[in-house]
Amino acid sequence: MSAPPRPAPDLLTADRAHPDPLREEPGPGAARCLGLYAKLAAGVSVVTARGPDGPLGMTVSAVTSLSARPPLLLACLRDGSRTLAALTAHRTFAVHLLREEQHALAGRFANPTTTAADRFAGTDTRHVLGVPVLAGSLAWSVCLVEDVRRYGDHHLVVGRVAAVHVGGGRPLLWHDRRFRSLTELAPDGPG
Ligand SMILES: Cc1cc2nc3c(=O)[nH]c(=O)nc-3n(C[C@H](O)[C@H](O)[C@H](O)COP(=O)(O)O)c2cc1C
Repeated sequence: MSAPPRPAPDLLTADRAHPDPLREEPGPGAARCLGLYAKLAAGVSVVTARGPDGPLGMTVSAVTSLSARPPLLLACLRDGSRTLAALTAHRTFAVHLLREEQHALAGRFANPTTTAADRFAGTDTRHVLGVPVLAGSLAWSVCLVEDVRRYGDHHLVVGRVAAVHVGGGRPLLWHDRRFRSLTELAPDGPG
């Protein structure tokens, strides 16, 4: 008769023995993490929402596709943002992927001392599903809020894509705390 199989290691017991793997060696801290995050290359977007006194919007690099069926995307917005408060209340928001020529607009929508009215000044705006949509971006979508969840000092916002427009142009990028453009395509991309 063969020997009975050895029991699998009890992972729950192991977790109880070492509840926090960082307890003996603390993590790197916020400043070093921000250095890491600065190395993430990202497209630059403006997220807009309908505020109580008019349109609100902010520049966001933390925008990512999440799912195609159903169509979902996500954005990470800092705690205390006026735009976050408005989209949470109105349950709808728009995401605009910016073109490389739109760095001044991105700077305006990021400036904490610029009023909401000044952020939108001089930019053609119309409303789709009650949300302000800016003319001239690379692409935009209007999303219904699916989930808002706080993680640390930001909120993870998941939106269900309800309307989409894809235009033309090249994306505005953010890397190493500076706006950048695509200069060339990598020689050996997939496909
Ligand atoms: C290139 C760039 C990317 C940014 N990305 C984000 C982001 O992903 N999430 C965020 O909360 N703030 C981000 N910010 C900062 C906001 O744009 C800024 O705090 C803005 O003033 C918030 O506006 P509000 O408080 O009126 O909503 C970014 C700023 C810049 C310049």
